Order: sequence, then C-alpha cells, then structure tokens
Amino acid sequence: MTGPAILTYNGQTYELPVVVGSHREAAIDISRLRETAGIITLDSGFANTGSCISNITYIDGERGILRYRGYLVEVLAAQSSFIETAYLLIFGELPTADQLKDFRSALTRNQSIHEDMHHHFDGFPPNAPPMAILSAMINALGCFEPVFMGEESDDQFVLAAARLMSKIRTIAAASYRKSVGKPMIYPRSQLRYTANFLHMMFSDPYELYEADQTFVDALDLLLMLHADHEQNCSTSTVRMVASSHANLHTSVAAGVSALWGPLHGGANAAVIAMLTELVETGEPLEHFIARVKDKDGKARLMGFGHRVYKHFDPRAKLIKAACDRLLNKLGRSDPLLDMAKRLEEVALRDEYFIERKLYPNVDYYSGIIMRAMGIPTDMFTVMFAIGRLPGWIAHWREVRKDPNSRIDRPRQVYSGPVVREYVPIEERN
Ligand code: ACO
Repeated sequence: MTGPAILTYNGQTYELPVVVGSHREAAIDISRLRETAGIITLDSGFANTGSCISNITYIDGERGILRYRGYLVEVLAAQSSFIETAYLLIFGELPTADQLKDFRSALTRNQSIHEDMHHHFDGFPPNAPPMAILSAMINALGCFEPVFMGEESDDQFVLAAARLMSKIRTIAAASYRKSVGKPMIYPRSQLRYTANFLHMMFSDPYELYEADQTFVDALDLLLMLHADHEQNCSTSTVRMVASSHANLHTSVAAGVSALWGPLHGGANAAVIAMLTELVETGEPLEHFIARVKDKDGKARLMGFGHRVYKHFDPRAKLIKAACDRLLNKLGRSDPLLDMAKRLEEVALRDEYFIERKLYPNVDYYSGIIMRAMGIPTDMFTVMFAIGRLPGWIAHWREVRKDPNSRIDRPRQVYSGPVVREYVPIEERN
C-alpha cells in the first residue's frame, strides 16, 4: 500500500492519492487538484503524465522491456504471428485454435472493399501521398459500414475489428497501386494476411506475384513488432477521439494522421533518406554526427532516441537481426544496412548519445527490410499503420468499455493578452 503524496501550496497542505500499477509503478492522482487546491499541473508533451490506466501493453523504458498483455515481445516474435498477436491485443487473451480459425476466416470474408469505394481512389491526384489516401479512405470506409457507426455490441465489435483489419490492408495496397498508376488487384482468399497484402501490392492482372516465404515471414514480424506501444502519439490520438464517443473508423483515421509525422511513424522513411544521402555524398560520419549534435542546425539522427526508451528499443534489436537474416538468405547486401550499422556504432560511442541515452528505435532498421522487399519509401509509414491497427483497435475498445471514461479535455495555462478594448478598424494604426 502506498501512502498519499503531500502537496504544500499557498500555505495549505493537500493529500493526493497514489495509484499503483502491476509493476509497482506509481502515479499521483491529481484529478481533483483544481477542485481542492485551485491549481492545475503543467507538462508540455505529456512526458510525465499518465493519461489513463490501461492493461494492454507494458513498457519498461529503462530496461528495454516491451510486453503485450503480459507476453514478452521477444517470445511473441519467436512463436506467434501478426494475426495471433493482433487477436491477443484486441481481445486480451491468446486465441484457442478455433478462435484463431474463426478470426482468420472473418479476415478472409471481409478482405474486399465495396466496389463503389474503388471510385474514390480515382479522385486523388497522381502521386498523392499514400498516408493521405489511407486516412481519407478509412473515414470513407465508415460510410460503407453504417452498422458500426454507433454503440457496438460485443459480437459486432469482433466483426468491426476483423473488417477494419482486413480492409486496411486492401486499401493500403490500393493506395500504392494508385500512386504508381497501376490497376487495383483483388485479394485472394487462399492467401493468409501478409502474403495476401504482398499479392495485392505486387501482382499484375496478367501476372501473379508469388511472395517468397522469407519476405512473408519478415513482413509478418515487422507488423507484429509495430502492433502496439502504449500511449504513443497516434494511440493517444485514437483514445482522445474515442473519448468523444466517435466511431472506430474515425478514431483510427485520426490515428493514421498522427502517425504520419516524421517524429513518429514517418521516421522510417526519414532514416532511409538520411542513409541514402550519407552513402551518396560520402560525408564522413564524424562530420554528420557533429551536425546532428549542433543545436543551431536542423539535422537529427533519424531512427535514434525515444521518449520512453532510455535503453535499446527491444524492437530495434529484433528488426536488426531480421534484417541480417533476410539479406543473408537472399544472398544480397545493402549499402544502406552497412551504413546504418557503422553510423550506429559511431553514435553509440559518442558522449552526446551516451549522456542522453539515445539508442536506435524501431524505425532505424525497419526501412531496410521493407526496401529489400521492394516496398517503396512512401509506403513505409502505411506499413507501420497496418501493423499498429490492432493496438489502436484495442485502445479504442478500452476507452469505450471503461465505465469511468470521460471526454479528454486537457487544461492550459493561458499566456496571451488580458482583457483588451476593441478598436474600430478606422482608429487602428
Ligand atoms: N538526434 C540528435 N539529438 C537527439 C535525437 C536525435 N535523434 N533525439 C533526441 N536528441 C536530443 C535532443 O536534442 C535533446 O537534447 P538536449 O537535452 O541537449 O536539448 C535530448 O536528446 C532529448 O531529446 P527530446 O527531443 O527532448 O526527446 P523527446 O522525448 O521529446 O523526443 C523523439 C523523442 C521525437 C523520438 C526524438 O528522439 C527524435 O526526434 N528522434 C528522431 C526521430 C525518430 O526517430 N522518431 C521515431 C520515434 S519512435 C516512433 O515514434 C515509432
């Protein structure tokens, strides 16, 4: 039992309850602070603020530990699949064989999108960013699924989750096909989730693409390792939108938009751009690192650093190993992988990175795997979104199921002008 925290403010003492999590992590509950003491807390970027109590994912950033519903991500990576892990995240338990079979079959039954939705793709200009298309089309999908626009029953939720998981893959592949001026490819029922996605990306009407099992395995792992990461920017966005009782599609579409930024899901593409530039220009790494450390410069070492991990990101380690495995199996090398490894070594020896505890994050090596499969750079963040979807769905559900959930509505400290007199336009100078 942890006692209350004591706050002294303006000569008065206040007792604040402390909430303790499964791993004895403690949080001061300030929800009644304004009411009792007339003061709020301020925490720019929410670096020190718990926004909810959640039982989905646990991260120990100091020790580099990540668990989904209690299962270590390394164990899932070795033994599970993306779809089984998605089920675990969304429904809370690993599925039985029958449950997994039913879920897979629901994914297959719902893999195609309404024929009318195909016309929506024609409204986007050529070269429209696939993330913009994805976000818009997930919102549009909501219009075709009116049954899921309200209060879902548990049975409807299972179906809504399966439909969204299945269709995001079809939409993502279609957005790529659109961006390269190729016709959309219909899914194939005999293929499993990841292989089906690769088919819709790379088959042509006149030639089937048979995905190499090595690619399928590597992509499945990549999706699984992105499946949830507790209260990151996009998931917090989904939760915030859900708190207004917005439907699943709209909440997820907002999550896709939040993920797009280069400081979040967009970092994987930025890493490839950075590595390509280093290979092409031959800039000495020490020089590049000096630029990155320069406070007046704009450069950052993309794919490094994390708000929560102050140690190796366990996902980065798994992805780096998968990258090596994939390229070895294909008998290929990639100058960007060599560059990434050299740059990592230089950075990890540098006092600036050591002091600030900056390590490679999930985005550092993931782009190299995707490149090896022929997935273009502007699709990287879309791949991240497909992977993150189970997490978003699980968090959306957690918000909607929580009897104590209230609409998210942070406060602020106002620093603008105090009351001003309105000056008519002819009197302004
Ligand atoms: N390169 C150089 N310096 C860095 C980097 C980096 N990649 N990341 C952090 N720093 C420095 C900051 O300049 C700051 O230095 P200071 O204390 O001297 O001011 C210190 O380390 C702390 O960094 P913050 O920006 O305060 O850390 P924050 O938690 O706000 O940001 C973030 C985390 C956005 C991930 C940051 O590390 C970053 O921009 N990394 C590069 C982009 C990236 O890889 N994003 C993907 C993150 S993982 C994901 O979203 C899936």
